[in-house]
Amino acid sequence: MFDHPEGATPISEEDREALKIMTISTREELNRWEQENINKAYDWIQKKRTLNVLEEVQLRELHRQMFGMVWGWAGQFRTSTMNIGVEWPQISVTLRHFLGNVEYWASNQTYTKPEIAARYHHGLVQIHLFPNGNGRHARLACDILMEKQFELEPFDWGGNLNVTSDVRNRYISALQSADKGSYSELYKYLNIQS
Ligand SMILES: Nc1ncnc2c1ncn2[C@@H]1O[C@H](COP(=O)(O)OP(=O)(O)OP(=O)(O)O)[C@@H](O)[C@H]1O
Ligand SMILES: [Mg+2]
Repeated sequence: MFDHPEGATPISEEDREALKIMTISTREELNRWEQENINKAYDWIQKKRTLNVLEEVQLRELHRQMFGMVWGWAGQFRTSTMNIGVEWPQISVTLRHFLGNVEYWASNQTYTKPEIAARYHHGLVQIHLFPNGNGRHARLACDILMEKQFELEPFDWGGNLNVTSDVRNRYISALQSADKGSYSELYKYLNIQS
């Protein structure tokens, strides 16, 4: 019933119980409701004057705005182990440490702003904060970092990453390469000049 594209987290039975909309029975319906919820989050972002995605509370609030109509655990960190991400009890401390690094890179210009944003996106999905929606949340958070904090145009993510496709495969492969510490593929995917 719930098939998922390459690199996406499967939905467990337990997660299904957290669905707020009981009539959802197919992946398509779920996608549609999630997208509707995400559209509301865009409105929320527009209205919000300050949004600092380098703060843990704001990252959680963003996730809640994106998925709160659909999922009971929206905005709450994972409490289960997944095949990706840090051990769940380490999420908060790992995130705090990582966001500190990003702040440091930004104030010391360790990398260019787009490079920092790319590393920020990868770091968030690698930690894998939430039970689901990590990719979409970390892409939107990255867009906000680019626009609000860096005053740059957000990345064009190469097309629709929510379905299995050649672009999605390239995106996932770039993240896997970043997992090993090599960011050149991700920079290339995001059209970052270096
Ligand atoms: N090897 C990897 N290293 C780091 N991040 C990864 C890796 N594989 C997948 N990801 C990230 O995890 C995301 C999938 O996680 P999750 O299902 O929680 O997010 P989502 O928003 O529901 O997914 P989707 O991107 O499929 O909409 C992918 O979009 C990608 O950003
Ligand atoms: Mg998913």
